[in-house]
Amino acid sequence: MTEQWWRSAVVYQIYPRSFADSDGDGIGDLPGIAGRLDHLAELGVDVLWLSPVYPSPQDDNGYDISDYQDIEPVFGTLADFDDLLAGVHGRGMKLIMDLVVNHTSDAHPWFVGSRSGLDSPERDWYWWRPPRDGGPPTNWESVFSGPAWELDETTGEYYLHLFSRRQPDLNWENPQVREAVYAMMRWWLDRGVDGFRMDVVNLLSKPVAADGSLPDGPVRPGHRFGDFWPLVTRGPRIHEFLQEMHREVFAARPGAFLTVGEMPGVTLEQALLFTDPARREVDMVFQFEHVQLDQGATKWDVRPPDLRALKGSLGRWQDGLADTGWNSLYWNNHDQPRAVSRFGSDAPEHRVASAKLLATVLHLHRGTPYVYQGEELGMTNTTFGRIADFRDIESLNHHRHALEAGQPAEEVLAALRTKSRDNARTPMQWDASRHAGFTTGTPWIPVNANHADINAADQWADPDSVLHHYRALIALRHTEPAVVHGDFTMLLPDDPVVYAFTRRHGEVELLVLANFSDGPVTAALPDAAAWDGAELQLGNLPDVPSEAASAPLRGWEARVLRRTRT
Ligand code: GLC
Repeated sequence: MTEQWWRSAVVYQIYPRSFADSDGDGIGDLPGIAGRLDHLAELGVDVLWLSPVYPSPQDDNGYDISDYQDIEPVFGTLADFDDLLAGVHGRGMKLIMDLVVNHTSDAHPWFVGSRSGLDSPERDWYWWRPPRDGGPPTNWESVFSGPAWELDETTGEYYLHLFSRRQPDLNWENPQVREAVYAMMRWWLDRGVDGFRMDVVNLLSKPVAADGSLPDGPVRPGHRFGDFWPLVTRGPRIHEFLQEMHREVFAARPGAFLTVGEMPGVTLEQALLFTDPARREVDMVFQFEHVQLDQGATKWDVRPPDLRALKGSLGRWQDGLADTGWNSLYWNNHDQPRAVSRFGSDAPEHRVASAKLLATVLHLHRGTPYVYQGEELGMTNTTFGRIADFRDIESLNHHRHALEAGQPAEEVLAALRTKSRDNARTPMQWDASRHAGFTTGTPWIPVNANHADINAADQWADPDSVLHHYRALIALRHTEPAVVHGDFTMLLPDDPVVYAFTRRHGEVELLVLANFSDGPVTAALPDAAAWDGAELQLGNLPDVPSEAASAPLRGWEARVLRRTRT
């Protein structure tokens, strides 16, 4: 296995709460996942990424960890974990863990110790500051609404939480914190895991001055508080911390690992540094540019997606990381609404074609594609009609604050229906039975009513399903070097509905054409004739005309052509 084995890999993300429930408590668990490994192996994915399964009060569904070296009882035990890992490895796949070390839960013993008094040995493991003018030490607003500082009565000081009140930020300036995290990572690698997806890892380094103070952030329109992103996404020590982590955890270890840093607000210029193999930081990053194009001042301020902007953004990242570094490719994860509802069309007559089109476009880019559970079925957004159906802390906090600010309830609900993270978190749709085969109990979040029409059992039986299309795309990555290694060239950047590009590797060239609209369109390719006689490698609609580069594309049609150039 070469050092960069992950270039030809496809990663599948599992959100354990919503994947498969083995014991009828309505919450997915590790034995549930173990029982569904054949679905993943047959799909052909190489790596599984597990969202957090550690003990946690579940304030943010496990992204608030109270013990890094055990399993949340709702999900199972360490023995269940070992069984799962053996099942994954036995099928030739790898497994990476979610590493959430920007913050812990407030129930983690480190924080319990830290908050117990000014002279606690763990006091400096978190960000404690005295009040400023009787209020919070900086103007920062938490990602989940409200101030990012919480007053703790025990000592009269505030602690920092960039996310919820129950997710206090760890102080990475303190070497003991870093050593404790590296020791924990080595413990998981010793157990056999194959790497980590690192949660908001670019936020680890805070812009602290020599006198210990932290600066205010700019106040954005539509916000009551200041923005910390420009400050903490350029933390002065972030590269040093990641290089140290690499040295302390991975460098001396034999093995083929994968590290991916989730980095909200990361720029292309920074990503080049983070993913330059010579710098030994992370293998690839999750960047957010393309999933923020359909919003205004906040994520709840929903704008229609614009294909030109999407192509501009993804194309720039393709060019920027062409020679150094590597892209992660995703439309979906547990924080994003469902791609088919967002960038495709979930209307019954277009859903299947548009889900396949989105998959085709993404998987033919240069980088490592990520499939989020249910994406391979073309699962759609929820149709929740009332706030009582929502579970996500970000959505519930936003709802409360928006109503307090006087926004009409219907408007707030409409934005939630489009953008809430719960869109991604409804249970995996395994079959048409009650609760979609996810649980025999009552699911912790309602199952999408469309599971009778959209489910894995039906799609395995239908060779034309979205699922089989994903399978074909994954197989293509494994067999066609141009998909992995080829140069990327964006075509027709100004076309408002056609997404077109080529991939070239040696003598082989692939052409991808995709129509992001309901009706027919002709792609005005300058050299369409040169593709006469090219082989149709993959399509998403039947009966593709023989002049596939110049014939009009039907609504949501995607074609991949292959030719050999001499
Ligand atoms: C990341 C996770 C998200 C979580 C947040 C805080 O963005 O993907 O689900 O809420 O970090 O841990």
